[in-house]
Amino acid sequence: MTQQKATNITWHEGEVTREERAANMGQRGCTLWMTGLSGSGKSTVAVALEQVLIQRGHHAYRLDGDNVRHGLNKNLGFSAEDRTENIRRIGEVAKLFADAGIIAITSFISPYRADRDLVRKLHDDAKLPFIEVFVNTPLDVSEQRDPKGLYKKARAGQIKGFTGIDDPYEEPTNPEILLPTHELSVEQSVALLLEELEKRGLLAG
Ligand code: ADX
Repeated sequence: MTQQKATNITWHEGEVTREERAANMGQRGCTLWMTGLSGSGKSTVAVALEQVLIQRGHHAYRLDGDNVRHGLNKNLGFSAEDRTENIRRIGEVAKLFADAGIIAITSFISPYRADRDLVRKLHDDAKLPFIEVFVNTPLDVSEQRDPKGLYKKARAGQIKGFTGIDDPYEEPTNPEILLPTHELSVEQSVALLLEELEKRGLLAG
């Protein structure tokens, strides 16, 4: 658990209620948290879902592992501590987006259960919906896809501590959604996620 460093700080409540914000946005903010191996299809589905939501007039924003590591998290690598900090920061950012009324779609390997559970708790405490999506494409399929050629490098010993090869991935025990992208088309995956958002009443203000 990250320590609170600053002292003498006080929470300052705003005047805008969540209901007002939802009415304004025509939707309710939430976080769709996609977790799974590199190459499992997280980013592909996230890109397609974001596009469909925007085309339908919703407000959605994608937070992607590789992208966030170019900016906010450029000082983090892939040690266990750095991965934990990566997920903690992005969990806080996703929560801010959700609080702002946006559908935040995250695609991070997020290999540790405890880190994902912490992000879930952040959302639960703020009464914001958190939908954990386990992109459960098996390792052999993800490795065969190898879109960035990283599994090949990891097998050749050129990358150390690669998730699924010589670094752990802890599967979610109770995800809200399973997305086996080796059995579903991108369209089918997007439809499943849209259905979940709809079912929860998040696509109306
Ligand atoms: S996480 O483990 O901290 O959640 P994150 O999703 O941000 O990872 O970044 C994963 C991406 O970084 C992978 O899709 C891959 O492109 C790249 N990458 C580089 N090195 C590694 C590594 N050692 N393990 C996993 N992914 C890596």
